[in-house]
Amino acid sequence: MPQHILVTGGAGYIGSHVVRTLLHEGYTVSVLDNLINGHRKSVASAAGFYQIDLGDVKALRSFFDTHSFDAVMHFAAFIEAGISMRKPAEFFENNCVNGFHLLNEMLRHGIKTFVFSSTAAVYGDPVDDRITEDHRLKPVNHYGRTKLMFEQLLNMYEQSYGLSSVALRYFNASGADDSGGIGEDHAPETHLIPLVLQTAVGLREYINIFGTNYDTPDGTCIRDYIHVNDLASAHVLALKKVLSDQTSDVFNLGNGKGFSVKEVIEAARTVTGKKIPVKIAARREGDPAVLVADSTKAKRVLGWKPNYRSIQSIVESAWKWHESNPHGFQD
Ligand code: UFG
Repeated sequence: MPQHILVTGGAGYIGSHVVRTLLHEGYTVSVLDNLINGHRKSVASAAGFYQIDLGDVKALRSFFDTHSFDAVMHFAAFIEAGISMRKPAEFFENNCVNGFHLLNEMLRHGIKTFVFSSTAAVYGDPVDDRITEDHRLKPVNHYGRTKLMFEQLLNMYEQSYGLSSVALRYFNASGADDSGGIGEDHAPETHLIPLVLQTAVGLREYINIFGTNYDTPDGTCIRDYIHVNDLASAHVLALKKVLSDQTSDVFNLGNGKGFSVKEVIEAARTVTGKKIPVKIAARREGDPAVLVADSTKAKRVLGWKPNYRSIQSIVESAWKWHESNPHGFQD
């Protein structure tokens, strides 16, 4: 019998790519999503789809009463760092309280294996060139704080209730499945690559470059763009590990290479053949100059190998999605 995995937030950008990879690997997959930000069309082939809000404890309990799972992968969360500074209550409720309900219902039903979608935002401003998992944890926005609080809850639940979990701290998730059938569709969109490609497609007049006076070679911020399918493969490896050895751990997931905002725009011009006008704008609040991962641990312990190393290959895959779905899923 294939193992049955519940994916919360499975209709979102990263969740839907993980669902696709799990299905390819032969798992039975059910998706639980309130569809506030997710897209039903992105998970057409999952075994079961359940539109439930994790805050609805009654619905959640009866869901777990009638279904059984070998493990839960938890993606459902608010993700926009800027918005978190204006809406800390909503972020705490969704990212911490709703996750707390999920863990409690899992434990009530004897499920003790968990994979958590965390973030590099738990580190805050980097004090090292390459960020390892031992880097100090000092988030600079409420989004990162809620993710860190939840990681701490996982530690408490491991010690006291025997819950085994893997927390995966992603850097800049990007790209799309090469099928062109699923991709990034946030409303509002705030991420660099989709905004650049929306400009290429003609939906935006120009792309803002937030700051050209950073202490970097071309003056623009450097980020570690990691392809969403490379994230997905790491999730499956992490799941296998925690299912087999029941030990908790935390891993960075990044490419290990940084690309500047200007380099991303240049790559998009090459891939799309479009001009992509830019405007120089003020720095965006809370943006560190450089954020680059050291993912040695994930490679060593999980045997993970990212396949998309160049920014061009990442942008190419994203372009397949944006070119054929300029308005996203339209659901
Ligand atoms: N940027 C622009 N113009 C834009 C949008 C972004 O210049 O219109 C710049 C930003 O200032 C930043 C870079 O492009 O320097 C990347 O910005 P994104 O918004 O795409 O991504 P962030 O690095 O801000 O954050 C992302 C995720 C977070 C996660 C973080 C971890 O959105 O959830 O990566 O590194 F925590």
